[in-house]
Amino acid sequence: MRDIVLSAVNKFRQVENDFFLLDAGCGTGGVLARCDSVKACGFDISAEAISFCRMRNCNQVLQASICEIPFKNQCFDVVLSLDTLCCIDQKGNDRALTEIYRVLKPGGILILNLPAYQCLKGTHDRVVGTRHRYTTGELRQGLEKAGFSIAKITYRNMFLFPAIATKRLIDKKLPHKTKMEKSDLKAVPKVFNMLFSAILFIENIFLSHLSFPFGLSVFCIAHKKHGK
Ligand SMILES: C[S@@+](CC[C@H](N)C(=O)[O-])C[C@H]1O[C@@H](n2cnc3c(N)ncnc32)[C@H](O)[C@@H]1O
Repeated sequence: MRDIVLSAVNKFRQVENDFFLLDAGCGTGGVLARCDSVKACGFDISAEAISFCRMRNCNQVLQASICEIPFKNQCFDVVLSLDTLCCIDQKGNDRALTEIYRVLKPGGILILNLPAYQCLKGTHDRVVGTRHRYTTGELRQGLEKAGFSIAKITYRNMFLFPAIATKRLIDKKLPHKTKMEKSDLKAVPKVFNMLFSAILFIENIFLSHLSFPFGLSVFCIAHKKHGK
């Protein structure tokens, strides 16, 4: 995800050299840390996440909500929001998109990544705080309602979709073995990590030219029109 996001940022950078980036819902600063060559800042609602950002020397961060962004109108060229809107309810989503639109400069871009398909919502989502998983259609509708025009909208993580979706659907049918719910995230042997990274790397090459009809995530680049 970080590769595809940073490649979209770099493409924008070829057009606008001097720009200001905001990571809305920056978490522990994984993306911000890779934006060291651009003017960037971020916020997150979690004080703990913000303290992790500071531990990795991402100091341009503050604690705030995406529904009430503490910045003036039209001050950012790029806003990223990666797997964050999914943590808030529908009303919050509408409010957040309006807020992002407000802080973007005309001609600026919003880069979004969100989990796909509500029917795949499982234990992992509950543990990490995902309230909703999206379709490209509903995300498009929400963005257009807020005033954005869509430059690209696609599913991603398609090659691994059949295996992961099957596992998710089977897990949902099985009775819970323990009371303690756990995230799906765990370290895997290096060789699997390399294999899965290679699959996603190849997908990203395809995604720079085309869109996928299904996948585990939705990825979108939207513009605030000039003169708005
Ligand atoms: C799945 S994490 C993604 C973090 C980061 N964007 C990344 O890609 O690594 C979701 C993040 O959204 C933050 N979040 C949830 N609700 C929020 C809100 N209303 N305003 C700002 N951040 C929020 C959480 O604290 C969490 O750090």
